[in-house]
Amino acid sequence: MSDSKIVKLVDESNNRSSELPLISGTLGPACIDIGTLYKDTGHFTYDPGYGSTASTKSAITYIDGDEGVLLYRGYPIEQLAEKSSFLEVSYLLLNGELPDKTQFEGFEHQITHHTMMHEAQKNFFQGFHHDAHPMAMLAAAVASLSAFYHDDLDVENPADRKLAAIRLIAKMPTIAAACFRYSVGWPMRYPRNNLEYVTRFLHMMFEVPSEPLQLNPVAAKALDLLFILHADHEQNASTSTVRLVGSTGANPYASVAAGITALWGPAHGGANEAVLKQLKEIGTPDNVETAVKRAKDKNDSFRLMGFGHRVYKNFDPRAKIIREMCHKVLAELGVNDPLLDVAMKLEEAALKDEYFVERKLYPNVDFYSGIIYKALGIPTEMFTVMFAIARTAGWISHWIEQHETPGSRIGRPRQIYTGAGVRDYVPSAKR
Ligand code: SDX
Repeated sequence: MSDSKIVKLVDESNNRSSELPLISGTLGPACIDIGTLYKDTGHFTYDPGYGSTASTKSAITYIDGDEGVLLYRGYPIEQLAEKSSFLEVSYLLLNGELPDKTQFEGFEHQITHHTMMHEAQKNFFQGFHHDAHPMAMLAAAVASLSAFYHDDLDVENPADRKLAAIRLIAKMPTIAAACFRYSVGWPMRYPRNNLEYVTRFLHMMFEVPSEPLQLNPVAAKALDLLFILHADHEQNASTSTVRLVGSTGANPYASVAAGITALWGPAHGGANEAVLKQLKEIGTPDNVETAVKRAKDKNDSFRLMGFGHRVYKNFDPRAKIIREMCHKVLAELGVNDPLLDVAMKLEEAALKDEYFVERKLYPNVDFYSGIIYKALGIPTEMFTVMFAIARTAGWISHWIEQHETPGSRIGRPRQIYTGAGVRDYVPSAKR
């Protein structure tokens, strides 16, 4: 990384100036290091949505929004989608390199032998209403993990950090399946060590005591691919949340639980659930034009969910892969879902419309994923839980990277104060 170039900033408002280093990474735009700006000029910078702000250096994921490029540790998402598995991608995100056979087998053995929840954790679910949203249950259950592993919570200890990563990646499917089972009134299923990661999850989700589960292998392959595509995405809102919470020294379970709640929002990971609901609302391809019109109407809060992205101003490469998957998986599962026709018609109409073209609004990762989740029998309320299972690999990789970075400090942004000026207290009798 070259830090030699300087950006000279002259502040004419108070006749002060600042010489700011220009920092470049391996790929992507250079960044102006504004660390001394306040000292040099007495001014803060202002960028409320962080659209022009890099919050950290990271070696995990690279996105080029203009070119629609996504790399995990330098490997293009298209190649990982075609050739890798979610567990291998989790190893890659955590360790920076693809594992050899021995490394992968060791990692898989560790994950497989950390999949169970503490038996006492099962009681937590009884406290929820049966119709509690599974994201509420998931966030609570993950935060509670720190109540069970308090002996291994030294965030400065690399072994504790690595063990927390194993536990989180291993237990998310077990907890997620428990959330679903509780919501439908089925008894919870224990993880089976003789099954691979995603198949084990599907068994915990759908196997009932009364009969063996007939699982189509297409389902596990499709879900594994969706997990790969959702595993990490640079400094998105939930990952930035995990980093900010982690910067205070909070334990990994509390930090990831914060990421889960950030992901829940419909502007972020909650969009996949919102897309399905919206497609059902639109109902048929004939109603697509009306939906596009509403999405453009500034007086209408209606937005096309699954469309647009802060970074991608081109096709989200993940959306391209998932769209192709839709046709293949539905055909192999023998599922004919009219909502896919609605989605395709919606995409076609939007991408021909000046409003979307001008604003570079393309389908994002959430636009088609729900169609596949639905075909796999996963209920709509569980869609963002699927996203959270996958993103846990990214979240905990970023959490560890931050702790391994020397000089990391607590995140503490400033503000522009717009409240009342200084004034004296007025006794209530005089108000
Ligand atoms: C994810 O950050 C990540 O990497 C996230 C993610 C990941 O893997 O972690 O990729 C996952 O969260 C994907 C995004 C899922 N969210 C949605 O699909 C919700 C619908 N999309 C939007 O709400 C919106 O596009 C965002 C939140 C995704 C991005 O918001 P920005 O960058 O703040 O963009 P903006 O709101 O400033 O929009 C720019 C313009 C505005 O119009 P003008 O003011 O210029 O007239 O585009 C319009 C917006 O009104 N616009 C939309 C729209 N998205 C943006 N108009 C209609 N429908 C939409 N979906």
